[in-house]
Amino acid sequence: MIRICFVCLGNICRSPMAEFIMKDLVKKEGLEKEFLIESRGTSDEEKGNDTYYGTKKVLDKYNIPYTRHYATRLLKSDYEKFDFFIGMDNYNVLSMKKLFGTDNKVYKLLDFTKKDKEIDDPWYTNDFNSTYNAIKYGCDCLLKDLVKKGECYD
Ligand code: 4NP
Repeated sequence: MIRICFVCLGNICRSPMAEFIMKDLVKKEGLEKEFLIESRGTSDEEKGNDTYYGTKKVLDKYNIPYTRHYATRLLKSDYEKFDFFIGMDNYNVLSMKKLFGTDNKVYKLLDFTKKDKEIDDPWYTNDFNSTYNAIKYGCDCLLKDLVKKGECYD
């Protein structure tokens, strides 16, 4: 079982988008039972709220299924529940390192790609399509890295 927690700031835009995209990719590979995939936020600003409508709209556009989401803050006690904590930007990564007191298990999504960049926050950019493309690329590469051990495309 590979246990992944995607992490952003509010847990309503980017990390739920990554959670639902990754669940869909894993399902399409017939690997559902091999993965536990969830998401969290480093802040509790949006506690209990559902996925933001801009994220739902772009998931609908690409026929990615999603369920009712409840934004949840990442806790120190989550550390043992997952093997990978995958942040969207450098600030998420910094917050996780501070919370856990280690950088073990802490990654940034685009570290799995050939582009060492951050996932822009559509809460501020309002560009959900660009964020979708970046997250989809990151999740494709992550799955390849974890399962297929193959090189990711540019
Ligand atoms: P996310 O975007 O981190 O991708 O979920 C945000 C959502 C809400 C807020 C900030 C970022 N907020 O400040 O409420």
